[in-house]
Amino acid sequence: MSVEEAKKNAAYQAVDENLMNNKIIGIGSGSTIVYAVKRIADWGKQDIICIPSSFQTTQILIHHGLSIGSLNEFPVVDVTFDGADEIDEDLNLIKGGGGCHVQEKILAYNSKRVIIVADFNKDSKVLGEKWKKGVPIEVIPSSYIPIMKKIEKMKGIPTLRMAVNKAGPIVTDNGNFILDADFSLIKNPLNLELELIRIPGIVETGLFVDMVDGCYIGLEDGSVKKVLKK
Ligand code: A5P
Repeated sequence: MSVEEAKKNAAYQAVDENLMNNKIIGIGSGSTIVYAVKRIADWGKQDIICIPSSFQTTQILIHHGLSIGSLNEFPVVDVTFDGADEIDEDLNLIKGGGGCHVQEKILAYNSKRVIIVADFNKDSKVLGEKWKKGVPIEVIPSSYIPIMKKIEKMKGIPTLRMAVNKAGPIVTDNGNFILDADFSLIKNPLNLELELIRIPGIVETGLFVDMVDGCYIGLEDGSVKKVLKK
């Protein structure tokens, strides 16, 4: 069983069990969500509006001929499907490996249900156990150095995310920079989130604490582990 098949199994089952009669559908970003969008398109529903979380997702939705809307038109989302970089045993997440966590978090916050699709590599007990790249933090460019210093005082190790095939840092869909901050094992993600979000210049962190209703995790044996919020 390849990782790609695990992603696909998780995404297909998540869509089959959660699309139902919902009309306004939030769509996250990344490689796993591509399978969810394909499955939504397979259902052939004519009456749904998909709200994308990124440039990437917008292109995938256009490719599949799905109708696209915005949160300003449809501020209440019935269900959002999204991927994750890591999931802990309480369904808290690290997101933002693809640099889209600001829009993803706004979508999740405004959704009645949030369903995560992922492969077995993302399944951890504690955040930071498997995802070693650090917590993605979107920052206003003019403030990245003071924010890095503040993170170091918090015993984190921040790195400015650099672009590939372009000199300098990556610039998000919102025109900001991303810091990846390694805090090792994150035993209390809520405390870390609250401490970070108070720092001026931080737009959003990739910590999603208590925002998820269910996770579908594709396993190596072809089955899908489903974990619902307690
Ligand atoms: C995008 O910024 C991320 O939050 C993605 O949802 C996350 O990185 C999962 O991506 P993959 O499905 O490609 O692992």
